Amino acid sequence: MADAPKSATLTIGDNSYDLPIHSPTAGPDVVDIRKLYGQAGVFTYDPGFTSTASCDSTITFIDGDEGVLLHRGYPIDQLASKSHYLEVCYLLLYGNLPSAAQLEEFESLVTNHTMLHEQMQYFYRGFRRDAHPMAIMTGVVGAMSAFYHDSTDIHDAHQREVASIRLIAKMPTIAAWAYKFSIGQPFVYPRNDLDYASNFLRMCFAVPAEDYEVNPILSRAMDRIFTLHADHEQNASTSTVRLASSSGANPFACIAAGIACLWGPAHGGANQACLEMLKEIGTPDRIPEYIARAKDKEDPFRLMGFGHRVYKNFDPRATVMKQSADEVLDLLGVENNPVLAVAKELEAAALADPYFSEKKLFPNVDFYSGVILEAMGFPTSMFTPIFALSRTVGWISQWKEMIADPQNKIGRPRQLYQGETTRDYVDIENR
Ligand code: CMC
Repeated sequence: MADAPKSATLTIGDNSYDLPIHSPTAGPDVVDIRKLYGQAGVFTYDPGFTSTASCDSTITFIDGDEGVLLHRGYPIDQLASKSHYLEVCYLLLYGNLPSAAQLEEFESLVTNHTMLHEQMQYFYRGFRRDAHPMAIMTGVVGAMSAFYHDSTDIHDAHQREVASIRLIAKMPTIAAWAYKFSIGQPFVYPRNDLDYASNFLRMCFAVPAEDYEVNPILSRAMDRIFTLHADHEQNASTSTVRLASSSGANPFACIAAGIACLWGPAHGGANQACLEMLKEIGTPDRIPEYIARAKDKEDPFRLMGFGHRVYKNFDPRATVMKQSADEVLDLLGVENNPVLAVAKELEAAALADPYFSEKKLFPNVDFYSGVILEAMGFPTSMFTPIFALSRTVGWISQWKEMIADPQNKIGRPRQLYQGETTRDYVDIENR
């Protein structure tokens, strides 16, 4: 016998309202309040959306207490160790792992869209040469809508598909060129005989004066960083993409909005902020001072790379990233790197401190990704662009899912107004 439909009862004064409860395939039940305002004339209040499910989704599942992250049902550790980024892209976009033929076709499609329209170079040249690569990426991705008119109609499934492939394929080129521009080196064009991660490394580190051999261990580590950041449920930047898209904005504009949101230090900017913090600490003897600052309520300082809105036990991406960090650092022989020494001791000191364990603050993915990227030779300013290029597929998958959802309507939150009530305008001479 099917379970009786569940509901919750909300009592306000003498009135009671029945609110339907939906049960997901995994995770907590969801109380449906869509009709609440119409029936009861009240709003719900949830700044930061800590108790709010904003949409239906079948893409990514997170259990923050158990440290579980699944993409289309597959655990992230299995995907990170057995799969690779483009296969995970296919999985996120289309719902299932591809057959060998499907994967080959998808990889070829992505590989053949990696070049940017040559005129887009003028956009780069318009930026100050010391512009942050995230600023350049936000601008250049937004500007794609000025170039690729044939993939901006969101109501045309074929155009949506073309926009998706273009964004995934071109994002490494866009990010690598933002870097090249910022260091004054010539742009390096993509090469179709290289895999996605190797191509990105080459576009970042090759120069026309000499050839660049991609180290397979570094390329594997790069691919793993992409994979571990590919999607993460309804986080701030993904919700931004969905909100931007809810108005009918074109895909390039929506992804540019996601990039802008990701930049903040509480989100994707944490990897840059974390490494800058490790450098500022400088030597392990200064760690107690910084831990004390992080615990001081009067001091706004936080340990970057620690804590997560959803993970309250451990970040499963951090576990894989830590292994990757060990491999890369072994390969590069940088065990004696001072930043790394601080990272290791800071991690141990924070994990041993009751303040962090009681508040369930553990190292997150960005604590280790910065260490790997630094060892690979990336400047800190490139950490968040690398996160953005990795997350593009997640944003696009969620964007496509949203557009295909019949319940899709413009996102329009309400508010708890605390301002002045109506008052009469006062002429300037009387104020
Ligand atoms: N260092 C010191 N204290 C912290 C930290 C930290 N990194 N993070 C949270 N706290 C404290 C905070 O002061 C608060 O204490 P109290 O309850 O006494 O007021 C408590 O822990 C809960 O903090 P919160 O701000 O309410 O928690 P949140 O879920 O809103 O914030 C977070 C999550 C990730 C924004 C936060 O932990 C943080 O700012 N971390 C540092 C930035 C960071 O590493 N971000 C990357 C997240 S992973 C990558 C991504 O998904 O983008």
